[in-house]
Amino acid sequence: MAPSSSYTLAIVLCLLFSLAAATMDPAEREALLRVMEAVSSDREWRPAAGADPCSSPWPGLECKPAPGGGAAPRMHVARLDFGVPPNPTCKDTAAFPLGAFALPHLQALFLVDCFKNPDATTAFTLPPASNLSASRLQQLSIRSNPSLSGTLPPQLASLWSLQVLTVSQNALIRGEVPQGIGELKNLVHLDLSYNSLTGPIPSRLGELRGLVGLDLSYNSFSGPIPSRLGELAQLQKLDLSSNNLTGGVPDTITRLKSLAFLALSNNGLRGRLPAGLSDLRDLQYLIMENNPMGVLLPSELGNIARLQELRLANSGYSGSIPETFGLLSSLTTLSLENNNLTGRIPAGLSRLKRIYHLNLSKNGLDGVVPFDGAFLRQLGRNLDLSGNPGLCVTDQAVVPDAGVGVCPDNVSRVRSAAAESSIRRVNRGEVTRRFWPAGMLRPATVALCCFLL
Ligand SMILES: *[C@@H]1O[C@H](CO)[C@@H](O)[C@H](O)[C@H]1NC(C)=O
Ligand SMILES: *[C@@H]1O[C@H](CO)[C@@H](O)[C@H](O)[C@H]1NC(C)=O
Ligand SMILES: *[C@@H]1O[C@H](CO)[C@@H](O)[C@H](O)[C@H]1NC(C)=O
Ligand SMILES: *[C@@H]1O[C@H](CO)[C@@H](O)[C@H](O)[C@H]1NC(C)=O
Ligand SMILES: *[C@@H]1O[C@H](CO)[C@@H](O)[C@H](O)[C@H]1NC(C)=O
Repeated sequence: MAPSSSYTLAIVLCLLFSLAAATMDPAEREALLRVMEAVSSDREWRPAAGADPCSSPWPGLECKPAPGGGAAPRMHVARLDFGVPPNPTCKDTAAFPLGAFALPHLQALFLVDCFKNPDATTAFTLPPASNLSASRLQQLSIRSNPSLSGTLPPQLASLWSLQVLTVSQNALIRGEVPQGIGELKNLVHLDLSYNSLTGPIPSRLGELRGLVGLDLSYNSFSGPIPSRLGELAQLQKLDLSSNNLTGGVPDTITRLKSLAFLALSNNGLRGRLPAGLSDLRDLQYLIMENNPMGVLLPSELGNIARLQELRLANSGYSGSIPETFGLLSSLTTLSLENNNLTGRIPAGLSRLKRIYHLNLSKNGLDGVVPFDGAFLRQLGRNLDLSGNPGLCVTDQAVVPDAGVGVCPDNVSRVRSAAAESSIRRVNRGEVTRRFWPAGMLRPATVALCCFLL
């Protein structure tokens, strides 16, 4: 015990000594203070920082010892985080901190909610590529900056060690994505969502083989989805929704074997979905609303075993709802509203034990709704069958809110029990339903009540 505790003591002393001895490189210290002055609203920084800003904890600043620094390693600026308290907030006249890229050991830079003065836009710029070749930056996050303007600088391609690049929710960032982005071979996450980017999605993104997340949603990208995106074998999340993409969904998408989340809503995509989508064994979310697809609803979608959300509303799908959809045992949400679907609702849908949102409204479905009371209770108000004039239920009592009338067969049974005039009111449906608790609504009761109204 004694040797081990003295060993521990030695380590502690050694650590204390090394911390005490670790003064910052004066040039690095000066560069750090200039970055703070360009951005931070805290004017007291320079006097308070002292000779060694790394020696005391500062919000928004993280230092790390130089690797292999021996007994007294120098501390270096490793992470800077501006914008959201407790980190330093940004001043009204904040300028984009070019100097941060001169900090030789910086690994992460966050500028979140920083540039938001509507009267003073700041340009997103980077130092010349030759100044960036020694960069160790792994994470760059520039998010929620409504007054940051300009295009994505081509020098981004020189930040070769980047693993996470987020340039998101900066409404004034416009123009095309530089093709050079394909150089960033270490990228794991790329998020360029909610900007005003235009032009094509660069096909060179297919070279980022380590990419796990790609989010280009809510921009104005146009042209086709590049087939080279199919080379991103590690990709788990692909979000291209709310752009101006046209053409079909490329077949190569079926090679994205790790994909769990695919969102392509609100584009101009049309035509058939690729055969082989059911090879995407991990796909849990397929969200593809508001595209002029205009094809038969493919039965193959029913074979994507792990699917939890399938949203294909408002996309011109025709044909019937495939029986195979009854196999999607993990499904929680099925949105098929506002298409051109016809035929019966497959009885198999009532086997979906996890479903809590089912919207089939505004189609041309017909026949008897094949759901039993238990299934209807499971869905409650999250079931919408309205806008399908051919659909009907045998017992209005069990589906008071789904927007469907009583089947003619069942109405005629009512007919024999009540006068002709009251039946027309039952068929109009809407009025009577609201007045009575669901449990009381036997057809005969309804007819009788209408008669009295
Ligand atoms: C780029 O590097 C040169 C030479 O080291 C230096 O003089 C210059 O200030 C740097 N430019 C920027 C914007 O960091
Ligand atoms: C989408 O693309 C079409 C055709 O290229 C163009 O007319 C339209 O303005 C674009 N819309 C947006 C929002 O970019
Ligand atoms: C879908 O139905 C609408 C309205 O009935 C019709 O205008 C449209 O041509 C149909 N689309 C397809 C693809 O069948
Ligand atoms: C179903 O979709 C329609 C059309 O988009 C929408 O108005 C309605 O609120 C949805 N119903 C439910 C229960 O979500
Ligand atoms: C509705 O009509 C069908 C066919 O005539 C009949 O089998 C069913 O029992 C009726 N259901 C109710 C609740 O009246």
